[in-house]
Amino acid sequence: MILPFRAFASRSRQSGNDSGYNETRMSPKISTSEEFRNTPGRGMVILTAGVAALGGLLFGYDTSVISGAMLFLRGDFHLTNNQLEFAVGIALAGALAGSAVAGYGTDRWGRRTVLLATGVGFGVFSVLTGFSAGLVSFSVARFLVGACIGIASMVTPLYLAEMSPAKIRGALVSLNQLAITVGIGAAYFVDYCLAAKGNWRWMFISAVFPAMVLVFGIIPLTESPRWLARRGDRNRALEGFRRLGRGDEAEAELSEIERALEEEPESWRSLFRPGLRRAVLVGVALAILQQITGINTVIYYSPEILQLSGYPSARAAIFAAAVIGVANVLVTIVAILVIDRLGRRFLLLFGTAGMAITLGFVGAAFSRHAAGVTVFYMMVAYVVFFGISLGPVVWLLLSEMYPTKVRGRAMSLGTVCVWGANWLVASTFLSLIHVAGPAGAFWAFSATCVVGFFFSLKFVPETKGRTLEEIERGWRGRSEESS
Ligand code: BGC
Repeated sequence: MILPFRAFASRSRQSGNDSGYNETRMSPKISTSEEFRNTPGRGMVILTAGVAALGGLLFGYDTSVISGAMLFLRGDFHLTNNQLEFAVGIALAGALAGSAVAGYGTDRWGRRTVLLATGVGFGVFSVLTGFSAGLVSFSVARFLVGACIGIASMVTPLYLAEMSPAKIRGALVSLNQLAITVGIGAAYFVDYCLAAKGNWRWMFISAVFPAMVLVFGIIPLTESPRWLARRGDRNRALEGFRRLGRGDEAEAELSEIERALEEEPESWRSLFRPGLRRAVLVGVALAILQQITGINTVIYYSPEILQLSGYPSARAAIFAAAVIGVANVLVTIVAILVIDRLGRRFLLLFGTAGMAITLGFVGAAFSRHAAGVTVFYMMVAYVVFFGISLGPVVWLLLSEMYPTKVRGRAMSLGTVCVWGANWLVASTFLSLIHVAGPAGAFWAFSATCVVGFFFSLKFVPETKGRTLEEIERGWRGRSEESS
């Protein structure tokens, strides 16, 4: 995995690591969090962030809601094991398809417009899922919900990154991750409440409420000024920045964006030219690492894992799974508070090291047939380390590493890798346990965290506090120097 990066690694020693990224700051600071606190438009930034993060909430909700509905679906539709597996997995296939087209859509029609359409899609398809008459109509509706999940997973952090002031971009984009974790928790809660009456239809239909808030909430928001600048719509871009509280700095920020745009390539192929290629490869590798380090085995299967480790009852295991969900939300709040101070790289290194160690202990507990409670504590600790590192940081880096003109498409590529790897891990986890045993499976995931640690150490640049244009020049600067 590391080998393809060797070539550019040797050419980029100055940056402190081997990311091929030039960390020299080239433009004056645009805005500090202190200044931000005193600007009149900050309400608009907060509103925009809150509304856009609903895309993350729907992503979390709709990926997890199926877990509670599964048992009832089997009975109502008379499904075989294979049919049930298909019904559960079809949304991931939709997410893969959605994230593949999202880049084209956001570059062409704008970030806000695509997010609005996705909100409408979430509402309509969630209701259709709830009213489905059999496996076929259910699968079609879930595939379409999945497509919305894929699009939302990409456009939400993208929109948040483009409208955030540089100094607090980490926190604002990470609201997306917080919303994902809240969405996952809300789905478990709704499932739990509706399970007593077996009302699986409302488990899906309930998503219409946050979807409606997203649709109506987004109407007064401004389109991303960066996307408007890219279209040459200077007046609306300037107006957008002013509404987002940039005040006198709006003109300076826009001029910097315009300068960067003049130098930016636009075609798909440019993603694979020196400079950008490094950023694309780092993004793809991080996206895959986020998933192959095993997070969704815990998020999707924790009751099963805990029962395997000897947890006394299904009820206790489900309760323990809920505790893991709450820990996931709480640690994401901590991540939001520290991400713009401690930086992306530090959190990645700290988190992947902790993930490797805790998964090592989970493996050891299984190999010694130790009590389920050790497995439980280590799983909570693992989720905490993920929630402060690979969870928020990967989505953040994907949203801030690429030039404006190709940001949508480059991010789409990373997002496709997230969903592809997610699908691979989720669909092979039970077989992996069967072949390697639970200890072997968790040691394998621990080993991928070690890879993640060294990968971050060598190839991930620090982007905290920089404008998106400075980050872009960072990649280009190194490639121009080396050529
Ligand atoms: C990942 C999801 C995961 C979630 C857990 C997100 O960053 O992309 O796959 O389920 O974090 O909190």
